[in-house]
Amino acid sequence: MYNEIDLDAIDTTQEPPTEEPARQYYFMAKCRQWVREFEQKNGRRPFAFTQTFGCQMNARDSEKLRGILKEMGYEEASEEKADFVIYNTCTVRENANTRVYGRLGQLKPRKKKHPHMMIGLCGCMMQEPEVVEKLKKSYRFVDIIFGTHNIYKFAELVATRLLSGRMVIDIWKDTDRIVEDLPNQRKYTFKSGINIMFGCNNFCSYCIVPYVRGRERSRDPKAIIREIERLTADGVSEVMLLGQNVNSYGKTLDTPMTFAGLLKEIEQIEGLRRIRFMTSHPKDLSDELIEVMKNSKKICRHLHLPVQSGSTDILAKMNRRYTKEQYLELTEKIRKAVPDISLTTDIIVGFPGETEEDFEETLDVVRKVRYDSAFTFIYSKRTGTPAAVMENQVPQDVIKDRFDRLLKEVQAIAAETCAVHEGTVQEVLVEDICDHDPLMVTGRLSNNLLVHFHGGRELIGQYVDVELKECRGFYYIGQAIGI
Ligand code: 5AD
Ligand code: SF4
Repeated sequence: MYNEIDLDAIDTTQEPPTEEPARQYYFMAKCRQWVREFEQKNGRRPFAFTQTFGCQMNARDSEKLRGILKEMGYEEASEEKADFVIYNTCTVRENANTRVYGRLGQLKPRKKKHPHMMIGLCGCMMQEPEVVEKLKKSYRFVDIIFGTHNIYKFAELVATRLLSGRMVIDIWKDTDRIVEDLPNQRKYTFKSGINIMFGCNNFCSYCIVPYVRGRERSRDPKAIIREIERLTADGVSEVMLLGQNVNSYGKTLDTPMTFAGLLKEIEQIEGLRRIRFMTSHPKDLSDELIEVMKNSKKICRHLHLPVQSGSTDILAKMNRRYTKEQYLELTEKIRKAVPDISLTTDIIVGFPGETEEDFEETLDVVRKVRYDSAFTFIYSKRTGTPAAVMENQVPQDVIKDRFDRLLKEVQAIAAETCAVHEGTVQEVLVEDICDHDPLMVTGRLSNNLLVHFHGGRELIGQYVDVELKECRGFYYIGQAIGI
């Protein structure tokens, strides 16, 4: 277990161990020596800044990077004015890539002024060979480039860079390896993401994730339980189980296990009060899972169930493997079993071949399901995916018009759906001081809605009963009971 390991006791004059995670601890110890030399020379420790782009998986990966950096002795910086800047990238849509190139362009003059500065790039975008080629050609000032499969090797890559002084590139096409027991630095003391599986086997035709995150691999349930037990002992009471498709958890294990089965085991963990998970693929959402959700005291009343499109034709072209009717039946079944559940979704507008009629079907699903919120995306062509070469790509002005209409519909319905809790008293897990008002705190309901109410820092991490006074679209203003 990492917090029992004494890095200073590792003999770095020896050859590095070959087994993991011991090998990485060796390299963390090596980097720590470098950090100490830096400190002696400069009278301060070096600062590192990690910026996450994209999804919760990446956010969790960044916590692992921060954990490793902390072990090395780096101080955490909150902006790019740092000695080491790491971008953990996303490539799900083209604009994610554009943003990274933009930020890199801004870093260039800084690096020129401070040549000791290091720049690291990792994550999904690095798994694309064209990206790495472009970086090698036009962004020579980047120091370390690695991908999604070898994040655990971060310390080794930093050590290699420090020793060689040259650009280090290490990208793996895929892996079946999961390295346990590495450090991580959580953003919140009271809640945490937990990877339960990596990769995706679904190959939705628009999506680049299966190409950059590799094949589906589930973590051993014992390792997951052990991690959550340690977290609860450390003050965590809410976990978010993470996977591209959590409903197919366990299929690839030596002893197969269902996601519902895993949830039942996690439910038993003492000290744990809330369990969330994402993302669920509708085609794999089982009756067993609905039953477990219905009977659970800890699983939150929220399900993120991406529909992507309401048109059965488009769903077939997207390779989603369900029809509009099957999706609607599923949501009805869930609502019947868990009436107070909040449903959220992802929708793509402008998939190749989407007609006005197809789009109307999407609006119809939105009106029927009445989501609490929906993430709406403009289709983005990802090179290498089947959809990128499909005919009838939809013109941008048509997409824009549909997107605006969809957003209006989604927002109007969400405001109504969210407001149904007005006047009730519900338990809120307080997360932070409110952004807009330092005398207020912000927390979440079980159904994931945000609530702001009067309170101080001492409430962070606490569960407070709050009367939901007023719904303001996507959040509530509340009043704590008995405080
Ligand atoms: N274009 C637009 N949106 C996409 N998503 C995935 N790939 C694309 C793409 N090529 C969306 C899906 C998915 C969410 C994480 O991102 O809606 O559920
Ligand atoms: Fe992409 Fe589909 Fe896998 Fe989700 S399930 S990551 S949309 S391929």
